[in-house]
Amino acid sequence: MVKETLLLVGHGSKLPFSKQLILDVAEKVKARGEFENVEIGLMEFNEPTIPDALKKIIDGGSKRIVVVPVFLAPGTHTEKDIPRILGLLKEESACCGHEHGRHDEHDHHHEHSHHDHEHAHHHDEHDHHHGHHHHHGDPVDIPEDVEIIYKKPLGADDRIVDIVLERALNP
Ligand code: NI
Repeated sequence: MVKETLLLVGHGSKLPFSKQLILDVAEKVKARGEFENVEIGLMEFNEPTIPDALKKIIDGGSKRIVVVPVFLAPGTHTEKDIPRILGLLKEESACCGHEHGRHDEHDHHHEHSHHDHEHAHHHDEHDHHHGHHHHHGDPVDIPEDVEIIYKKPLGADDRIVDIVLERALNP
């Protein structure tokens, strides 16, 4: 049987809670015993980055990597950034003919106004053109014998509704 790893991807944050939540979810998922190997990767602001996680998983000999984005809704990260990092979406498919396929950088700012400040801070630290690319980590060369299965975000699942109602109804 091929060695398999579950990779949980979270957003990341300058505050510790995003990474801690993914760590906690990963520990609980691992405790269920369905996956012997469970790793985490953070999209922004924290380590391990997604490329860090992929390198570790591939170096560890896994040939099948199941990737679950622990996000609620599909967005620029889950639909574009993460697939690109996973090697599932090539730069050429980025729209509008911007050189080096960096057009999504602008989309990201529009869609993520909640943390524009954090992104802006980042861009101050790095050359603008390469800043975001560097921030997400360099793409990893995925060996041909490694299969990556990329799953959907969580979505408007009834179990999310249960949590919403529990929050709303309990003191
Ligand atoms: Ni973001």
